[in-house]
Amino acid sequence: MDQPGETTHFGFRDVPLGDKQTLVNDVFHSVASRYDLMNDLMSMGLHLVWKDLMINALNPPRSEVPFALLDVAGGTGDIAFRAAKAAGAGFQATVCDINPDMLAVGRERAAARHLDHQVSFVEGNAEALAFPNKAFDAYTIAFGIRNVPRIDLALSEAYRVLKPGSRFLCLEFSTVDVPGLDRLYELFSFKVIPPLGRAVTGDAESYQYLVESIRKFPKPAAFAEMIRAGGFARVNWQTLSGGIVTLHSGWRL
Ligand SMILES: C[S@@+](CC[C@H](N)C(=O)[O-])C[C@H]1O[C@@H](n2cnc3c(N)ncnc32)[C@H](O)[C@@H]1O
Repeated sequence: MDQPGETTHFGFRDVPLGDKQTLVNDVFHSVASRYDLMNDLMSMGLHLVWKDLMINALNPPRSEVPFALLDVAGGTGDIAFRAAKAAGAGFQATVCDINPDMLAVGRERAAARHLDHQVSFVEGNAEALAFPNKAFDAYTIAFGIRNVPRIDLALSEAYRVLKPGSRFLCLEFSTVDVPGLDRLYELFSFKVIPPLGRAVTGDAESYQYLVESIRKFPKPAAFAEMIRAGGFARVNWQTLSGGIVTLHSGWRL
């Protein structure tokens, strides 16, 4: 239960904890149909490179050995599709996302790629997963955790559904720490992304939220501490593209 008066961030705004998910859902409802195009434009295709680095770390078996991936906040399915491409016939992915509009785009993309036998889409909340304990061989979450109101709950749910000996991987925007690049990134984020969002999706505010939420997300060392507090061991991270993105990893032992 939320305590009365408990607040959190929605971008730069302080909002009641209980309101954040509705605000986040409005963002992804608004942008779902053009979400993939905007990702390509905003990151100039780099998001696919970051996602492939996550798939390399995941390293799913290329054989018929069964391997069950849970991709939370999986949206339109990029991580699941790329993992399926890298894996063998024993691979199965469940994409879990709270937003039916994002999932609908994902289902269409899976059918177009003839991946519907290996990738399924399930509506659900990262904070309270409707899966049994120790059900999955890996848990991924890409650019999702920063949108979840109670990150600690999402992390303990990740731990609960993973089999012992399996891995948690999280790709998230981070803090640019390269002199020169930091100012350029700041300018690009605040001056280019919201107007681009307006031009492509008709919605600048959702992309203003995106850039603000990135600034509010904990720095890698602090987030690694949260992952440890969720029960994970051998926690580490790798910064990518000058700190634009960080790949976090932890193991359920
Ligand atoms: C930026 S998108 C990332 C989608 C995909 N992982 C990718 O990398 O392209 C963030 C996703 O998080 C989902 N999301 C937000 N809050 C969530 C929650 N509490 N539980 C599950 N999914 C959530 C949104 O619906 C949205 O699809």
